[in-house]
Parts: sequence; structure tokens; C-alpha cells
Amino acid sequence: MEIIIRKTAEECAEFAAKIVENYLRINQRPVLGLATGSTPLRLYKILIQKNKEQAISFKKCVTFNLDEYVGLTSDHAQAYRHYMDTELFQHTDIQIENTHVPDGMAEDLRQECQRYETAIRNSGGIGLQILGIGSNAHIGFNEPMCSLSSRTWVKILSRETIRANARFFNSPEEVPKHCITMGIGTIMEAKHCIVLATGESKADAVVNMIEGPISANCPASILQMHPRTTIIVDEDAAKRLQNKSHYTWVEQNKLDWQQY
Ligand code: PGA
Repeated sequence: MEIIIRKTAEECAEFAAKIVENYLRINQRPVLGLATGSTPLRLYKILIQKNKEQAISFKKCVTFNLDEYVGLTSDHAQAYRHYMDTELFQHTDIQIENTHVPDGMAEDLRQECQRYETAIRNSGGIGLQILGIGSNAHIGFNEPMCSLSSRTWVKILSRETIRANARFFNSPEEVPKHCITMGIGTIMEAKHCIVLATGESKADAVVNMIEGPISANCPASILQMHPRTTIIVDEDAAKRLQNKSHYTWVEQNKLDWQQY
């Protein structure tokens, strides 16, 4: 794991944007894994701006989102398809037919999960996966005590996640209880993962992910087994890390070709 600590959430987003920018520039057919939630919004704003300035292009880019609620139509204000369209896709030169979000309204949800896995495989696999982390250390909607090798599947949101996401709905009762999410096994196949975490509410999840034991109790901790994960955190989210000075030392001593 590579740990990058920055003062502010904005600096974290800028660092992540640099990685995405390099990835889009280097690859002829980039396949990006995308996340929703409040954390990646700053990153998406920077990417939109870079796209406007023609520093990057999404024209050849294929995207796969991590997850979607079951039972919300794609135009529902809280559907992740709606979020992606309004927060990123509509403002860029991406071809909308190259963007993929699981269909939470599919008649046969199990078949939809299999179709999604196949589509990822047929695209050549995800090259760069952007991840947020829940305060309970979920990634995608893979909640504590989930399988650490699962594939895209229908999962049940934990009560903690329902409470956390209720802020986007009129009441907690309106938050769907089911979702389709890439499994941990699916996420682990991405060639490079970036985790963005900001704010004190993520401090426990961050220390458990990086310095705790690998455990289903902390789904994000499986990333310790991933060959290339970059974790970008602000000082509030990094608050409980024990080895902060080591991470800074490592970053300061990277070779030229290890820089982004
Ligand atoms: P957040 O969500 O960015 O809104 O905090 C992250 C997550 O639940 O994965």
C-alpha cells in the first residue's frame, strides 16, 4: 500500500486527479472504475475542468461504477446512475454508451450481476479503480463480515450504512435496503486502486484498513493484499495512523519513475 497524506480534502482530490490524468494519457483504451458518495465529488470537478481545458479526454474511456441501489429508477435523484450523469458524464466528452452502472431495476437481478461481471471482463478489466470508504470500512457496498472474495452480487446494506446515507433521502425509511455491488474479488482484480478518504469520521476506518489485521470485519483491509493500491487521505482521516512519519518518508524518497 502506498499512503499519501495531504493537509486538505482539496489537495487529496488534486493528487487523485493527477493519477487519473496520467492513466488516461498513457492508455489507448482506459477502463476506469468509478465511485459515488460525497468524497469523489471534488475529484470529478477537477476532471471536468481538465477535460474542458483539453488536458484530458474521456472519448476512448470505458467506465464501470462500483454499485447501485436496487429499486431506484435511473432518473431518481439518489440513483447512482443519476449521480454519475449529473456529477461527471454530462460535463465531459465521454461516450455515454461506454459508461456502465449496474441496473438496480433489472427484472432478474442475479442475471444483471452476471452480465456486469462479463462486461467488465470483456472490456479487458479495470485499469484504475477509484474507491471511497465507508465509516464502517466498506468498499463498494461490501459491508463488514462480507466474503472477501465475492463477485458482483445483490447485497443487503448494513443499518449503519442506511443511517449514513439517510442524509441524501427524506427519511431513513426511503433508503433502499438492497444494492448491486462489485464484489471484493471483482475490485481486487483492478490493476491499480485509489482509495480517497477525508474527514475525521473516516479516521477509524482508515487506521483499520492500513494498519489493522486483514479481516472481514474491515472489508477495506483486504487491500493490504492488493499489489497496487494508493490511499490518499487528509490529515483528519489520517489522525489515528501510527506510522505516519514512515509514509511521509517513503513518499519523499520515491524514485523519479515512481512519481505520478
Ligand atoms: P462518502 O461515502 O464518500 O459519502 O463518505 C463513501 C462510501 O460510503 O463508500
